[in-house]
Amino acid sequence: MIQTDSSEQRWWKEAVVYQLYPRSFKDSDGDGIGDLKGIIEKLDYLKSLGVDVVWLNPIYSSPNDDNGYDVSDYRGIMPEFGTMQDFDALLKGMHERGLKMVLDIVVNHSSDEHEWFKQSRSSRDNKYRDYYHWWPAEKGKPPYRYSLFDVNHDAWRYDSLTNAYYLHYFGVKQPDLNWENPKLRQEIYDMMKFWAEKGVDGFRLDAFQFAAKDTSWPELPKGYEKEFAKHVAMKPAIHGYLKEMHEQVLSKYDVMSVAEGAGNSFEDAHNLVDADRNELNMAYAFEAIDLAKSNGYNFVQFKQVFSKWDSAFAAKGWLSIFLANHDNARMVTRWANDSPEYRDVAAKMLNTFLLSMRGTPYCYYGDELGMNNPGFTKISDYKDGPSLNDYTYKLNNGMKPEDILKEMRFSCRDNGRTPMQWNVLAQAGFTTGVPWIAVNQNYTSVNVAMQEKDDNSCLQYFKRMVSLRKAEKALVYGKYNLLDAGNQQVYAYTREWQGKKLLVLLNFSAKPATVNTGINTANAKALIHNYSTAPAATLRPYEAVIYAL
Ligand code: GLC
Repeated sequence: MIQTDSSEQRWWKEAVVYQLYPRSFKDSDGDGIGDLKGIIEKLDYLKSLGVDVVWLNPIYSSPNDDNGYDVSDYRGIMPEFGTMQDFDALLKGMHERGLKMVLDIVVNHSSDEHEWFKQSRSSRDNKYRDYYHWWPAEKGKPPYRYSLFDVNHDAWRYDSLTNAYYLHYFGVKQPDLNWENPKLRQEIYDMMKFWAEKGVDGFRLDAFQFAAKDTSWPELPKGYEKEFAKHVAMKPAIHGYLKEMHEQVLSKYDVMSVAEGAGNSFEDAHNLVDADRNELNMAYAFEAIDLAKSNGYNFVQFKQVFSKWDSAFAAKGWLSIFLANHDNARMVTRWANDSPEYRDVAAKMLNTFLLSMRGTPYCYYGDELGMNNPGFTKISDYKDGPSLNDYTYKLNNGMKPEDILKEMRFSCRDNGRTPMQWNVLAQAGFTTGVPWIAVNQNYTSVNVAMQEKDDNSCLQYFKRMVSLRKAEKALVYGKYNLLDAGNQQVYAYTREWQGKKLLVLLNFSAKPATVNTGINTANAKALIHNYSTAPAATLRPYEAVIYAL
């Protein structure tokens, strides 16, 4: 018999998560890099959004080869971001305002500058040797493994010090940790407890689907990287590790947990998140976000993907919903329209979607304003190491620079990392210095200060949409039902919960659209809509409306 744990009420299901990239949020000391004191300055802003949880991308000590996703001390704060005192003050300030904090836990790999790795590479019999994956060179070359970030995409790096190769699925400075080693696992749990004891309210497990490895190191088929996750994600041992983590850490505190990646199937995802598994609370699946890697996407397929993931978790398990994050282009550029004419209304429409689906919504900083891709034109505008490596790789493989730049302008993850646009002052009020990455030049018209004063702004709409989600539990727990599935312009669905039924209509196109829902909305109350005049039967470009039926 199927249990219905999806409808069990939990704070982390009702929460709206706001993801904040600390490097780009607010700089308090003029060095051009966002910092913890900067976030403290903006706590009232965060509170005003109505969100419940703030997820911070990594803030730990790091040589910053991958903007903090290469941790050299899991219990230290990156000096550019501040000190542990600043961290404590930030956490306190958040808790005083009823906000919860989620930290990013990056434990598929560490930095090569972590003490563990320094020890590990120093000799074959060092007690930290087995904290990482080593392949002795006398056995010949290790079997090919693909690296996502390496300039040559080779995941084994030869280290002459001990005449051996180490594994790195990500960058060469991000050696993979060996989760088979119980001592390593204990270190990680102790580290998580350290943060939980401080009062942190949750953890996002970075790239964790790759943590368990098949250490018999079988040969993998050539070209397997096209289906990278299928071959290297979710190896069976992962569930043992997560159960252990649950027992030692997650079950001991009132914390939420979310995995980046949900494996390769619904079954994989259920195995991570179903309540009776005692592993994690939720995961985010990549199938939808992967649809628009290059320009354009199939809208009907987009609806199908969200619908099938919803139905697979209707009775059991829980997922998250997101349209953007620090690894992706800006939501409005990618999924709708960022032309001056439509950017604002299109961003409101996408926020309506994000905040009206089942699953915990993750809103990415700046998307509440409708921030879009900055339209960088030169390779020197980009700062992300892995993206620059990829540029070199593509050049070496015969692609023309202008074609690579065109692709990057649409999809490079730096597009989603430009500084938060606070006001019309220099550098959008983000810094008094030179920002580490250029500010989007539209900040003089797209910024918090102006939008706070304008009741019709994207920001005010976002806040109203967050409040609506809080007021209508149907938007959290309600049954989702896709309508007019083949409609090429409109995403239409109902959400239904305890006798209450809501109808969501979203025009994802720049043309007027009609939709065949079979529901008469003539007398229905519009709870929210993104045009200043009332919605009618024909939806205007990017129009969004939620009706109470
Ligand atoms: C995850 C992060 C990404 C990072 C990578 C390596 O995918 O979201 O930003 O580069 O892991 O840690």
